[in-house]
Amino acid sequence: MTMENGFIQHALHAQEQDSTQESIKVQVKNLNLFYGEKQALNSINMDIYTKKITALIGPSGCGKSTFLRCINRMNDLVQSCLVEGYIGVDGHDIYDKEIDVVAVRKRVGMVFQQPNPFPKSIYENIAYAPIMHDIVKKGKECDELVERALRGANLWDEVKDKLKDPGTALSGGQQQRLCIARAIAVEPDVILMDEPTSALDPISTEKIENLMLDLKKNYTIIIVTHNMQQAARIADYTAFFHMGNLIEYSDAKTLFVNPKEKKTEDYITGRFG
Ligand SMILES: Nc1ncnc2c1ncn2[C@@H]1O[C@H](COP(=O)(O)OP(=O)(O)OP(=O)(O)O)[C@@H](O)[C@H]1O
Ligand SMILES: [Mg+2]
Repeated sequence: MTMENGFIQHALHAQEQDSTQESIKVQVKNLNLFYGEKQALNSINMDIYTKKITALIGPSGCGKSTFLRCINRMNDLVQSCLVEGYIGVDGHDIYDKEIDVVAVRKRVGMVFQQPNPFPKSIYENIAYAPIMHDIVKKGKECDELVERALRGANLWDEVKDKLKDPGTALSGGQQQRLCIARAIAVEPDVILMDEPTSALDPISTEKIENLMLDLKKNYTIIIVTHNMQQAARIADYTAFFHMGNLIEYSDAKTLFVNPKEKKTEDYITGRFG
């Protein structure tokens, strides 16, 4: 057993697995994606389960971020990008011509690799979208929502006395929790996270991992990570991508301990990557 694999097994051991019937939150069928002539995703089929953490792993350039961005139609913003196939959230086709893209992005929030608070106060970072979406009115109702979101992101105690300070004045780890608070403030169903801890130190990373384990009580979380120990520590399900193909997808334990595909095994044991 390699050292890497030893760590992964240890992390998995600490995590309880349940095998009860899962409900599907996001259903992906025959998803193809092209950047101009170049196909970046090949016929992806995947059921993503409600209130679970699903990790997407694979070597650089395999299509993890591209796939993640499909789930809230962020690829619409890329000119050359063409998406074919079906993605349903709670059975609603998010690529349906009639659908309101703003509403899709409200239900499916996103947190990026680099913390990206708006150049506004901590308070306004949280309050902006809920006011825009008419979820709350300014004043007491909004104050309560800001507090709830900051508590939900385990940040309240650190910022409650400086809500008027700029969000950008926080540490990197705090900024990332602010971005998570901002994402949950609009009460999404699904939170997409693209390498949310790769710019953070180990302590901030641990805080975010613990936060994700808390958040999955209420949200479906899909996370891209290069860190396989992280996937093993927190993910219920893991998908391994390679060159635009979904090679293997299963509960995290099976994928890391007993992968079916040789390519998966080679990747998780560090033979390429
Ligand atoms: N906006 C874009 N325009 C053209 N090609 C793109 C664009 N974004 C990504 N690609 C290409 O699509 C493929 C998948 O890229 P993607 O960013 O999804 O990979 P990734 O798995 O997230 O990689 P990494 O681990 O490095 O973040 C790559 O070949 C990449 O060059
Ligand atoms: Mg990426």
